[in-house]
Amino acid sequence: MSPRPRKENIIAATPRPLYLDCDTGVDDAVALGYLLASPAVRLVGIGTVSGNLASAPAARNTLDLLALAGQPDVPVAIGAHDHLSHGFGGGAPHVHGANGIGDVELPRSTREPRDGHAVDLLLDLSHEFAGELEIVAIGPLTNLALALQADPTLTERIRSVTIMGGAGVAAGNITPVAEANIGNDPEAAADVFAADWDVTLVPLDVTMEHTLEEADRETLLAANAPFPRALGQILDHYFDFYEPTYGRRMCALHDPLAAALAVGDVTATRAPLVPITVDTSAGPGRGQTIADLRNQRLGDLHHDGHRTRFVREIDRPLGPHLVEVLTGMTSPS
Ligand code: RIB
Ligand code: CA
Repeated sequence: MSPRPRKENIIAATPRPLYLDCDTGVDDAVALGYLLASPAVRLVGIGTVSGNLASAPAARNTLDLLALAGQPDVPVAIGAHDHLSHGFGGGAPHVHGANGIGDVELPRSTREPRDGHAVDLLLDLSHEFAGELEIVAIGPLTNLALALQADPTLTERIRSVTIMGGAGVAAGNITPVAEANIGNDPEAAADVFAADWDVTLVPLDVTMEHTLEEADRETLLAANAPFPRALGQILDHYFDFYEPTYGRRMCALHDPLAAALAVGDVTATRAPLVPITVDTSAGPGRGQTIADLRNQRLGDLHHDGHRTRFVREIDRPLGPHLVEVLTGMTSPS
């Protein structure tokens, strides 16, 4: 048997380049921390989009969070304020606080957003990391749709797309059938799902089943590094919002689950490749992701020719793993 390689001889895999598109709200902030703490990926750019709050203050939150994590050099660009077919709707202060991060005031970063639109940043990065760039989208899909309009060849240069959004069997969260990221820009979502790339869709069906409890929040508050401690504070408002949903103070893990699947630290155990239709009508179904989940009782039934994986289940509880990664963050030097 060949001897095991000595630890110092193991060449760490090169971190994979990743672009994050977000509406830095509370769970976006948790997902950002997770991505920053993951050695498997390197955040090479962040674009913001209106959703939980407007894209400009979302960029401010993102810059302040990056500075708190000691990673101020990640380029941040402001993306779409309005959506493809309608203006920004005012956000979700009842969920994320008026400032988007639980009304916690972070130390203000000295950096400003990069000049240019988030779409320009994404397209530039797709050329710089052609064939390797991975996209994680955890806000409305306006920027991705605009990027595809500007350069349909974008899909040829992207390695993977992971999207937090939608609801198949689960109820919606902004309407009875629409999840916020899809429902805030259904036309953009329809264009993104129709594009020539493989998509992993992480819907409420699975994200509502993975949670953080008050004990986890206390663990974050007691962490050594300032970023997880700040998350413990930022989550307080979010826990209040979710108390009526779960019957106690806790929260769902929407964006962090998309991030963990993209990184590869958790694995989808059920994720059929199915047709996904977005309702772009003006009726009561607007924003619904209609996933054809018929005949799935005995296990995944994949539909030929469809490239969107609809994640229904993952291999382990996300909460404990997430807290372990976040509390392992180090303080900026
Ligand atoms: O429906 C949940 C999603 O909408 C999350 O990404 C949350 O941050 C909001 O953007
Ligand atoms: Ca989000």
